[in-house]
Amino acid sequence: MRLEEKVALITGAARGIGRAIAARYVQEGARVILADINEAGVREAARKIGDGAAAVRVDVTQQDSIEAMVSATLAEFGGLDVLVNNAAVFDLAPIAEITRESYRRVFTINVEGALFTLQAAARVMIQQGRGGKIINMASQAGRRGEPLVAVYCASKAAVISITQSAGLNLIRYRINVNAISPGVVDNEHWDEVDARFARYENLPFGEKKRQVGAAMPIGRMARPEEIAGLAAFLASSDADYIVGQTYNIDGGSVLS
Ligand SMILES: NC(=O)c1ccc[n+]([C@@H]2O[C@H](COP(=O)([O-])OP(=O)(O)OC[C@H]3O[C@@H](n4cnc5c(N)ncnc54)[C@H](O)[C@@H]3O)[C@@H](O)[C@H]2O)c1
Repeated sequence: MRLEEKVALITGAARGIGRAIAARYVQEGARVILADINEAGVREAARKIGDGAAAVRVDVTQQDSIEAMVSATLAEFGGLDVLVNNAAVFDLAPIAEITRESYRRVFTINVEGALFTLQAAARVMIQQGRGGKIINMASQAGRRGEPLVAVYCASKAAVISITQSAGLNLIRYRINVNAISPGVVDNEHWDEVDARFARYENLPFGEKKRQVGAAMPIGRMARPEEIAGLAAFLASSDADYIVGQTYNIDGGSVLS
């Protein structure tokens, strides 16, 4: 029960990693708002978690939507102690085929959305005056480039950089900003990624997932629940002295 008395807000929580973190936070004693652009999905996710979980629709590309989400959190649970900035989208294409439309979509959600969600949460935390924890979802893709994934990799490198700057700026308010950098996590998202790679690399469905799992030093992909433990630690008082860091949780894929 490391998160007793805490209120957490998690974006991109309708499924996958965000949803697993929400379930774990409730187990740890937090009250959690699950937020997602997929309104039906996020309501269902909160309903399944049960007591301590509530849902709100958000589009992190819209400032008024971000502010409405934060207001809904305060109205529902009376404060905000933890933000997990998790909503993101993926895209892939060879350099010669990248479009401005894809670039804008990925950067508007993954970078602009994450920055202004972080800002909205930080403003509340500063005003409350009781510190807080902000956890950004980065990726091993932000640690190094990949041949078909230039735009998404760059967006996650930006998340790592924002984590450092925000960490340095906000620690004076006892707000710890850190990030999690997963490797490959087996979920619906990766089923979609697999289908995209199948097209570009001429592979049968499921083959890319098999390959990326086998390429991990640990020999397999992660389960979303395996990311949730690190997210619980970073939201807890055990992480009070950790500032601006990005933690790899990737079965040994990136050593840094
Ligand atoms: N799955 C992986 O292998 C992996 C690896 C490294 C990092 N990550 C990162 O982890 C996070 C979660 O990934 P996931 O695998 O659970 O993906 P996912 O696609 O299952 O979840 C992302 C969620 O974000 C939501 N979303 C998209 N656009 C939004 C918007 N404009 N406003 C609000 N919500 C929006 C989606 O509806 C979805 O529910 C992402 O930041 C992703 O980049 C995932």
